[in-house]
Amino acid sequence: MTHLYKIAHPLIQSHLARLRDKTTPSAEFRLLIQRLTVLLAYEATHDLEVVPTEVETPLQRTTCHVLQKRIGLVPILRAGLGMVDPLLDLIPTAEVWHLGYYRDEATATPVHYYSKLDANRPVDVALILDPMLATGGSAAAAMATLRDWGVRQVKLLSIIAAPEGIDHLASEFPENLIYVCAVDEKLNDQKFIVPGLGDAGDRIFNTTD
Ligand code: PRP
Repeated sequence: MTHLYKIAHPLIQSHLARLRDKTTPSAEFRLLIQRLTVLLAYEATHDLEVVPTEVETPLQRTTCHVLQKRIGLVPILRAGLGMVDPLLDLIPTAEVWHLGYYRDEATATPVHYYSKLDANRPVDVALILDPMLATGGSAAAAMATLRDWGVRQVKLLSIIAAPEGIDHLASEFPENLIYVCAVDEKLNDQKFIVPGLGDAGDRIFNTTD
């Protein structure tokens, strides 16, 4: 099964060019993340289940279709927060469940610092939101948490991915689909994606650490 979907589209390419540019200011960077998330989400939600419902138009009664399953948006703090609002606009009934990981600078492994999931009520479909898939450590930790929560269908939406992160998830979670705007060349010695776009969390929130 192909579990990686790289969305090729001129709008994505054009927004990515501005996103990667180191001179792009934080306010524009946030907007670009939102625009790219909409384009990514359109593809990543193509197979959501719908059920028929009867609607009375101004002219007559007709059968329409509405979403059926409980959908959870799962942003990985911090950078994933930048992808929440555009998805909530598209899926107003979605639930948002936060997971917090930061990457230890020395080891590049994820450090868990926040999760609060409703123990007895896993969502039906979880969309993990994180603009960057580098080593895959953070996304894999999130996927393990969602599996333990009991989520049956998990997808990852990332703006930019490194081949190393894709391989990591493919070997550990081959059943989970990954949607990306770009697959970059590699990770550098510090495990940063190159050419990449720098630190998405810092650029979204206008911080430096
Ligand atoms: C970045 C990014 C991912 C993670 C990717 O977050 O947003 O969560 O690193 O790296 P990985 O695939 O090797 O795990 P970071 O740790 O910089 O935290 P932040 O979002 O708070 O800036």
